[in-house]
Order: sequence, then structure tokens, then C-alpha cells
Amino acid sequence: MPVEPEAEAADPMTHLLGLLACHAAVAALRLGVFDALAEGPAAPEELAARTGAAREPLCALLDALVESGYLALEDGRYAERPAGAGLRGHWGEVLPLWTALAAGPWEGLAEAVGSGVPDGTFYSWLDDRPEVRRRFHRLQEGMAAGLAEAITLPGGTRSLLDVGGGSGTFSRVFCARSPELRATVVDLPSVVAEAGFDGPVTGRGADLGRPGAITERGQDVVLLCNVLHGFTSVRARALVAEAAAALRTGGTLLILESDPAPDAPAERAFQRFFDLNLWHTQGGRLHPSSELAGWAVEAGCTVRLTDLPDHPAHLLLTAVRL
Ligand SMILES: C[S@@+](CC[C@H](N)C(=O)[O-])C[C@H]1O[C@@H](n2cnc3c(N)ncnc32)[C@H](O)[C@@H]1O
Repeated sequence: MPVEPEAEAADPMTHLLGLLACHAAVAALRLGVFDALAEGPAAPEELAARTGAAREPLCALLDALVESGYLALEDGRYAERPAGAGLRGHWGEVLPLWTALAAGPWEGLAEAVGSGVPDGTFYSWLDDRPEVRRRFHRLQEGMAAGLAEAITLPGGTRSLLDVGGGSGTFSRVFCARSPELRATVVDLPSVVAEAGFDGPVTGRGADLGRPGAITERGQDVVLLCNVLHGFTSVRARALVAEAAAALRTGGTLLILESDPAPDAPAERAFQRFFDLNLWHTQGGRLHPSSELAGWAVEAGCTVRLTDLPDHPAHLLLTAVRL
């Protein structure tokens, strides 16, 4: 039977150019090329002076970036194009993180897939790379700030447990909205120590990979945002049960997760690589929403699944403890 193609036929040259363009863009970003061009078009001599880079290889780098559409060259002066300007924002966090992952843990992908044993060292790998680690957390903070806008906590919520809450963006946004709300962020001890929580948000260091990591009880709301995908389905299922057990009767568990199959083709393609990366670097997976919902029902909750129109790559599951 003929096989229905699900994607465009692969073009290795396009993939190679994309890989090289990513590395070139990240190099230019680190040299400060895009910051220098934010002030307007510049001749190579000016860019060499502003970045401190050697003129000849800098020109080679700039020409490669012209070819890949990040820069334009007019009358001997380089100017940034929209993709170049984008590197001073969101994409300036995304590309360095993924090029570092591809050049680091992904080097061992064949051995891991071959043996069935993932590398699984993502967070200690991050701890050894402070610049990449900062980018990762800034990326999470940006994403969390956007997602928090799409979420309203149930009326009268006074206690929030933000499981795997990182630097506590959700907790801070929700506490800023409701002066009576108190939040606890549970995350890795190093992350909690660095976040320096104060005021209505407190932190507790714990290893969520270990059974019984969630010890809080009687919470109005428990939040699991972009956390379950970092764990195997066995541990993720147990974490849902632990999170539900931390709720008071009638309390709400909010699970925000990446949608494994969003509608947009580029987002859907990215999720396949994200899923592979999760398995390899964390031992996790993008768990299907039906599985997440089933785990919440098992944990004694009623469940509602909601799309987030402004965040098409995410799903929100609202589970109420019976
Ligand atoms: C993708 S981030 C999501 C952060 C936050 N919930 C948000 O949405 O912005 C996953 C979080 O889980 C935490 N985490 C991962 N593995 C953990 C573990 N074994 N124990 C505690 N926290 C962990 C990470 O430190 C990180 O803050």
C-alpha cells in the first residue's frame, strides 16, 4: 500500500543551510552584531570597531547572514532584516539554547536511542552553563508571563502551589492580581535558591523525580505548568496524583502542557523534535492530553480540557478534586 507523505520531502541542503545559519546567527548575536545594528545600518569597519571583531572574518559572517536573510547589504552597509531584529527578543533566547543542545547532548542521540537509555542530564548540563541556563529561564519566564494572561484562578483562591514553578512567574503574576493570595513554588533547590522568593511567594526545594516530593496539603489551587513533560509517563502520572492530593476538596488542579499536535504545521513539526529532545535530555515526553486527563480522573478529579486561542501550542486541563 502506498504510504501517504505527512510532510514535504526532505531537502538535506535546506537542513544544512538552516543548521549553519543558526550557528552563524548565534555567533553574531554573541558578538553584539544585532545590538550594533539596532542603531541603524553600518559599514563593516564600524561593526568591527563596535563589536571588537576582526574585520575580514566578520565580513564573511555578515555575508553568510545576508544570504540566510538575517541582514541586508546596501551600498556597502549592513542593515538588519526582521529576522535579525527578532534575535534581540524571543528568538535570541531560543536559537542559542537549541544550538547549544544540538552541539551538546544531541551528540549522544544515536547511542541513547540505540540503547534506550536517555542522556537525562538536562538540568545538571544547564547548571554547568550559566549563560545557557539564564537563557532557558528567561525563555520560561517570557512564556509563563504570556500564559498567565490567559488564566484566571477560581474566585476566592487564597493558596496556590506552583509545582515546578521555576523562578515563580505564574505565582508572582497571580499574587499581584490578588493581594490575599499566598503561593509556594516547589522546584529544584538550586532554582529556588537563585529565585530568592519573598513577600507572598515562598519557595521550597525538592526533587520532583522522587516519590512523595509534594508534601503540601489543603491547597485551593495546584499548578503544573510545563512540568509533566520533563518526566516519564510513570512519574508524571504519580505527580498528578501527588498534586491532586495536595488540594482541598473542591480545589483545582491546573495542568498546562505543550500540545503534542497543534494545528499549525511548523508548530506540529517542532513538537516532534521537542518530544525527542525531552526524551533524550530529561527522560520525559509530550504526554497526550487524553493521558493527562485520565491520570487526573484516576486521582479523583473531574476534568475539563480547554484550548488557549492565544497560545495554540499549549493546552489547559482544569481538574477539580471531588
Ligand atoms: C519547563 S520549566 C517550567 C517552569 C514554570 N512552571 C513555567 O511554566 O514557567 C520546568 C521546571 O521544572 C523544574 N524541574 C525539572 N525537574 C525537576 C525536578 N526533578 N525537581 C524539581 N523541579 C524540577 C525545573 O527546574 C523548571 O523550573
